[in-house]
Amino acid sequence: MHAHKLLTSAVVASFAACVLASPAPEPAITEAPSLAKRATTCTFSGSTGASKASVSQQSCSTIVLSDVAVPSGTTLDLSKLKDDTTVIFQGQTTWGYKEWSGPLLRISGNGITIKGDTGASLDGQGARWWDGEGSNGGKTKPKFFYAHDLTSSTITDLYIYNTPVQAVSINGCDGLTITDMTINNEAGDSAGGHNTDGFDIGSSNNVVITGANVYNQDDCVAVNSGTSITFSGGVCSGGHGLSIGSVGGRSDNTVDTVTFKDSKVKDSTNGIRIKARKDETGSITGVTYSGITLQNITKYGVLIEQNYDGGDLKGDPTSGIPITDLTVKDISGTSAVSSSGYNYAIVCGSGACSDWTWSNVKVSGGKTYGSCQNVPSVASC
Ligand SMILES: *[C@@H]1O[C@H](CO)[C@@H](O)[C@H](O)[C@H]1NC(C)=O
Repeated sequence: MHAHKLLTSAVVASFAACVLASPAPEPAITEAPSLAKRATTCTFSGSTGASKASVSQQSCSTIVLSDVAVPSGTTLDLSKLKDDTTVIFQGQTTWGYKEWSGPLLRISGNGITIKGDTGASLDGQGARWWDGEGSNGGKTKPKFFYAHDLTSSTITDLYIYNTPVQAVSINGCDGLTITDMTINNEAGDSAGGHNTDGFDIGSSNNVVITGANVYNQDDCVAVNSGTSITFSGGVCSGGHGLSIGSVGGRSDNTVDTVTFKDSKVKDSTNGIRIKARKDETGSITGVTYSGITLQNITKYGVLIEQNYDGGDLKGDPTSGIPITDLTVKDISGTSAVSSSGYNYAIVCGSGACSDWTWSNVKVSGGKTYGSCQNVPSVASC
């Protein structure tokens, strides 16, 4: 077999260890026999690959998904992996068409290593569902990837194309590092992609996302709840920017210590956005935006609101979700906002925005928003 040649060094090392431990070295097993030992590499492909991988997830230490074609209406389900399993995507992973809610892919476990091999892609072929309505109507569209309940795990070099609707949902994770992921829904700009959020993060701790490229038609990142979450070295294009929230009205409404840094937001509706829902409770504390470059922003360069109501800036703000200990610094957005847009819009409830740090924030090109309220004195609006 040639399959192991494509594997990365870590896998080769574990494969080699397996080989060394065996009296008679054997090539990688391509499909898990029922008696397979745990320390083995299993390769699955084609239209039966997804179901066979699901069945074998307890018996393979490395699962290689090679040109898997997942049947319509089913999930490529690796949610019962044993600790320390490696999952490698090779070639093109595709899914059949069905109107359903998904997800198309689900991976959970502890100590899981997930990688995309060179040239591999996960292709949602979302155009089959796109109708300009996203999750608000029209066809029922499957969510793409549930990265749920991953602890002490990594996802590296995954290339995702054209998700039907939301791309990556991170929930219930603790200790998840995502490196160099691309979510490329650029085709949806002209073909009716909508609500194609890049990363939706909830109820998770210690999540680090570095070097992501997101081309989409909704939030690049939306942190709805969680603690110690960092997004850095990313590029967001075509969407709604780097968002906290909307916070409020869910089971978990606490956002604590979230950092967006050294990233670029271009060709997007908003640059930076913090959305606290009106008439709800929760808290948003310790959020930092630092080293963010904005370019070609159509509506709001910086939008911070406590009157989000499904739409931005709706009516009187409320104070049930305070925004405290916020840092906004080194934001370069000179001439970045369209002349019909606003550089800053900050609408806080009475006493609900405090302990802010604001330095070297240069956003221009747009108008002054006339209805800023309760803005901390350090900030511009
Ligand atoms: C600005 O961004 C919009 C999308 O919001 C895009 O349609 C347009 O082509 C971009 N303009 C330039 C000059 O890149």
